[in-house]
Amino acid sequence: MTRDEQLRQTAYEEMEKHKGVVEQDPYRLHYHLMPPVGLLNDPNGFIQFKGVYHLYYQWMPFKTGHGAKFWGHYSSRDLMNWTHEDIALTPAEWYEKNGCYSGSAIEHDGKIYAYYTGNVKDEERNRESYQCLALSEDSIHFDKKGPVVHLPEGFTAHFRDPKVWEQDGTYFMVVGAQTTELKGAVALLQSEDLLDWEYRGVLTGGGQGELANFGYMFECPDLFKLGDQDILIFSPQGIEASGMKYQNVYQAGYVAGQFDSATGTFKHGNFEELDRGFDFYAPQTTVDDKGRRILFAWMSVPDQNEQDHPTIEHKWLHTMTLPRELKFVNGKVRQVPLEELRDLRAGEAIEHKVILDKESRELNGVNGKAFEMEIRDLSFSEGWFDLSIGDGCRLIYSVGEKIVTLERKSYVNGVVEKRQCKVVNLDSLRVFVDTSSIEVFINEGEETFTSRFYPSPNNDTVLFRSSNQARFTIRKWDLDHVNLK
Ligand code: FRU
Repeated sequence: MTRDEQLRQTAYEEMEKHKGVVEQDPYRLHYHLMPPVGLLNDPNGFIQFKGVYHLYYQWMPFKTGHGAKFWGHYSSRDLMNWTHEDIALTPAEWYEKNGCYSGSAIEHDGKIYAYYTGNVKDEERNRESYQCLALSEDSIHFDKKGPVVHLPEGFTAHFRDPKVWEQDGTYFMVVGAQTTELKGAVALLQSEDLLDWEYRGVLTGGGQGELANFGYMFECPDLFKLGDQDILIFSPQGIEASGMKYQNVYQAGYVAGQFDSATGTFKHGNFEELDRGFDFYAPQTTVDDKGRRILFAWMSVPDQNEQDHPTIEHKWLHTMTLPRELKFVNGKVRQVPLEELRDLRAGEAIEHKVILDKESRELNGVNGKAFEMEIRDLSFSEGWFDLSIGDGCRLIYSVGEKIVTLERKSYVNGVVEKRQCKVVNLDSLRVFVDTSSIEVFINEGEETFTSRFYPSPNNDTVLFRSSNQARFTIRKWDLDHVNLK
């Protein structure tokens, strides 16, 4: 047996062995993408290829911790029903022996060109990184071509997560990086044929410009057009918390501006966080045949109490976010739940027109474990309005301060913790709850809060309260269980 065959076989055995215990977990989600066993992190190689969507992902099948990652693979025709395909990449070769780390995919000549980082560590834990290429004609079987980019001068071996795209008749690659001065940076490379890559320079960060002093490492860059803007998404590490901002261990956000493909330079504005919740990292996008820019993110943050999630007892850890469509509105990136998510709605909506007057109330039929709520025409007199999901989390709007807060009971020690952001006018909320996750879309995606939370499994109430008067209309749907085949 080859090393690749061995690794595959052991991973499939691990899946079989723990299938029962994984499926019995009451916190297993109903309509999100999760690992069949072990740990899932970043979305990788997201692409629509020959009409089918493919989402590869960082996967550690052997434990609920990080390590020598595989590329797992989900595919779908409709972005809702997914098939778990055979493993795409195993860390079998010398140049990737400690992990086939994150990367991206692009179609060329009827093939998927998948770029990823080969992570290598020696006995002294010294790191090497190679940007590698693997080709596939059927999206399932990959033919590894090995390293195509070696570490350029000026960077440490924290050089990873290549994202490749075509623009103006040539190909570009952005790579997440750390300079030898230990500054976070995005490196730019260029190629005419997708095989020979030339290093063009630091695109942003690295001790220069707008992001001169912005942490020690940028992970998972992604550069694309949205409307008339070029958006660079990345996940910086080493940013200090500041007021309501940067509260998670690491961040995920974007800068908007203009990328000049001739000079390889990018003029952009300030960094904005993409999400305000506890669990959102390493987002990756693709564009589909409807022209939509679609994003998935990992619903967790590295090193943020990962080992305290209760799902570990059931041999699995972490989930993807729901897919979202990106829009650029009034100078900001918005995330809107994908249109197709409406197909998950089971049966008719439960509807209420509500006036809460200094009271707390449950609304008939508005409860459950896996559901969607659309709350519109919100108006408030003063004070605060909140809604609690089971005993696990609470969304609060403070009318005077114009602040939205998401509170949850910490899964580490039960203490209530919070994340917040300013929302000047709260008009609408779309909330997706899925047993142990919540995704809140405020004002058509102007702000989002994405989080895991762990309510007592027998508590599926939703309680609405208002310190004064709050009016709104609400529609609620149960959402179907999506079979992950
Ligand atoms: C982000 C990340 C990437 C890396 C991958 C390893 O979560 O650290 O930078 O490629 O995860 O799994």
